[in-house]
Amino acid sequence: MRKNIIAGNWKMNTTFEEGMELAKGLNEALKGKTLKCDVVIGTPFTHLACIADAIDTNVIGVAAQNCADKDKGAYTGEVSAAMVASTGAKYVILGHSERRAYYHETAEILKTKVNLALANGLTPIFCIGEVLEERKAGKHFDVVDGQVKDSLFDLSAEDFAKLVIAYEPVWAIGTGVTATADEAEEIHVHIRCTIAARYGEEIADNCTILYGGSMNGANAKELVSKPNVDGGLIGGASLSVDKFMPIIEAF
Ligand code: 13P
Repeated sequence: MRKNIIAGNWKMNTTFEEGMELAKGLNEALKGKTLKCDVVIGTPFTHLACIADAIDTNVIGVAAQNCADKDKGAYTGEVSAAMVASTGAKYVILGHSERRAYYHETAEILKTKVNLALANGLTPIFCIGEVLEERKAGKHFDVVDGQVKDSLFDLSAEDFAKLVIAYEPVWAIGTGVTATADEAEEIHVHIRCTIAARYGEEIADNCTILYGGSMNGANAKELVSKPNVDGGLIGGASLSVDKFMPIIEAF
């Protein structure tokens, strides 16, 4: 059975103090609760080690939002997958549309990052999704197929089985416009079929596929009630315990 996951992506928000407070607050709020999903928080690099140390990482998994496409060495300012893993983080968000758009991360670069993340024992949360023009032109299925194939389909079945996929339509990110539950279900089924064609039914069935894009306490229940929507990757609403908790409790 595949896992349900609600993951927060804090993006470039929170000072160290604010981040510690948010993580500890969430840890407190989750204490003693029986959850029907795993919970993950994607924090800035600067917070990872202290947050992993301050919370119960059996209840809240910690994620980085990126890692380098190089192993180690003279790459000033970069943070390697090994460094991320050494903080106690277990996940890394890769291929977010903001990184693809603003930092020119290509399919080839992302392929290298995925390989390095896996080699260092991290679970990649690999983001895919189309822009509005592509959706309007009816190209969204082809776009996500391309993103998955170009960066992930050289992986062995064993490695592919370790990934989490996050479908995040770019037009829904930070806009307040969510994909409808039916739209999310439709494309998640499509992604699962594409995976099945390459890796077989069992691996496709076991692959966790998250939805991301303006998910909140009001729309989460309907989205995660869909059989192929296995949780969410949440930006804005993950920045407060009060807004994040109802999404976690949507399962
Ligand atoms: P919002 O939830 O703020 O739309 O962001 C979604 C996202 O990009 C998560 O990675």
